[in-house]
Amino acid sequence: MAAIAIDGPAGAGKSTIAKLVSKRLGFIYVDTGAMYRAMALFMLERGTDINDQKAVAEEAQHAQISIRHENGEQAVILNGENVNGRIRTQQVSDAASTVSTVGEVRERLVALQRELAASTDVVMDGRDIGTVVLPDAKLKIFMTASSEVRAHRRYLELVEKGMEAEEEQIRREIEERDERDRTRAISPLRQAEDAVLLDTSDLSIDEVAERILELWK
Ligand code: DC
Repeated sequence: MAAIAIDGPAGAGKSTIAKLVSKRLGFIYVDTGAMYRAMALFMLERGTDINDQKAVAEEAQHAQISIRHENGEQAVILNGENVNGRIRTQQVSDAASTVSTVGEVRERLVALQRELAASTDVVMDGRDIGTVVLPDAKLKIFMTASSEVRAHRRYLELVEKGMEAEEEQIRREIEERDERDRTRAISPLRQAEDAVLLDTSDLSIDEVAERILELWK
């Protein structure tokens, strides 16, 4: 099966671009961050101490996570329930970054990701897709943008939803999450040697999507 792997830090535009590219190619878009978010939600709701690695490893065995595709949208199913509406909060973002450092959590989710890619053509985004999950992917992209640009995009998104936001605070949270994702012991965020680096700071969404489609050809 064909696969495009897109990795990079939070807010670089991975999911927007991956959705567009997958639609154009008729591939399935797989958002792996959503799986880590569902795992984090599960732990938060069970009252697990997410900084206790042993407890997280143990609890992870009780989370049944799967995904479904409905009208081109990915739905994350946690123990039978679609949790898409509950995984995009700041609390879940931070907790996902923390629980994703635990080996048992990664093993379960990586297995699910590989199963998906074995049965269908995918555009998959995350942090370790090109390095660990799909090392044989035909095309690997490492997408970045400055933390200022990423914070500004996130700020505009929140304001558009009518939510209160403070750009400087968003930038700090983004940088903290990057640092944790880059420095963890298992499968840290890094560019695969054969990945193409795409800095999206000064590019429009369409320009980035076009660039990837050209590379795919
Ligand atoms: O892409 P995202 O912001 O939804 O991801 C949430 C967190 O999940 C991110 O901070 C790190 C973790 N993650 C990971 O460790 N590996 C992946 N392939 C995807 C996400």
